[in-house]
Amino acid sequence: MTTALAKLKETNAEASQWRRHIHAHPETAFEECRTSDYVARLLTSWGVEIHRGMAKTAVVGIIKGKSNKSGRAIGLRADMDALNILEETNVQHCSKHEGKMHACGHDGHTAMLLAATKYLAETRNFDGTVYAIFQPAEEHGGGGDVMVQEGFFKKFPCEAVFGMHNWPWAPAGTMMVREGAVSASADEFVIRITGRGGHAAFPHTVIDPVAAASQIVTALQSIVSRNTDPLDSAVISVCKFQAGTESLNVVPETAILGGTARALKPETRKRLEQDVRRIVKSVAEAYGATAEVEWDWGYPSVINTPKEAKLCWEVAEQVVGKGNVSEFTPMMGAEDFAYFLQACPGAYVIIGGGKSGNDPGLHNPHFDFNDDVIPVGAAYWVKLAETALPPAK
Ligand code: NI
Repeated sequence: MTTALAKLKETNAEASQWRRHIHAHPETAFEECRTSDYVARLLTSWGVEIHRGMAKTAVVGIIKGKSNKSGRAIGLRADMDALNILEETNVQHCSKHEGKMHACGHDGHTAMLLAATKYLAETRNFDGTVYAIFQPAEEHGGGGDVMVQEGFFKKFPCEAVFGMHNWPWAPAGTMMVREGAVSASADEFVIRITGRGGHAAFPHTVIDPVAAASQIVTALQSIVSRNTDPLDSAVISVCKFQAGTESLNVVPETAILGGTARALKPETRKRLEQDVRRIVKSVAEAYGATAEVEWDWGYPSVINTPKEAKLCWEVAEQVVGKGNVSEFTPMMGAEDFAYFLQACPGAYVIIGGGKSGNDPGLHNPHFDFNDDVIPVGAAYWVKLAETALPPAK
């Protein structure tokens, strides 16, 4: 066990209070004002210089080491936002904001980085600068993207940036790391098919957009099964099919489809868009209809750089023990830490949070972050900072 972990375990009652306070007052995308104030107040009380105002509610803590001979710096990032979910836990610190909930554990992420910041501000056992990044709007809105667009790395140049997510499906006391793609890109599409409406009894006088749209849904399935390397990963899900009215004897003029396309590799991501456009156009034409595709590029995939992933693996082993670190299987969910990694080398790791092996999963109304994990995550941040920026000799 590292010294930091032992110390952070001793003080975890306090850190758990911060976590529960944040949990009770969940706020969503770019409205994390109260959470932001709370974080800023704590950092200031520990003598940590702060910067506020990026992406509306972000707080950046600037922790200076005992020395700054190297002039080096790294970023540690936590997300602060909640979800639009009605909480169904019966815990004392249950959400006081009806319809909003910390169901993804970002309250825990914030608490872990707070605990690490406090420890680092007290010990400053490193050479250089650590930026503690408290970011808004991870769930939707891309707060990470906004911060990078607003010049985060120009203002706070980092040689590497690191992220972490809790994982209730893996036992507490374990961590998972991976080099390369960790999560998928997620892009949204809306397809509008236009035919010619008319009487259901006279199909020869109409161009049926429902029949065309149905064929399009089926044909889109072939992109993953027939155009994608079986050893690569992609998902196309059509989640919306809208057409017609209450009048069941009227062939409508238009049909609308919508869904998401996901991929681990940037090149596959680009191809999915081209394939969707090609299939939609050709199938609509085959039915005499026309179609338009609106493509909304969402979060890119999180891609860990090799050197930083290796560093994270070594640090994780020192914190949770050799046998408790394993390779993460990439997931097809999306994560906006990707924007930080598009601009800077770095790595995103997973920290186990499960208590029973049958815990409610992320985004479940019964989920509550496991407070026992706070010292583990905080010790990982501390060790990572001290290892990446070793004290000057
Ligand atoms: Ni999350």
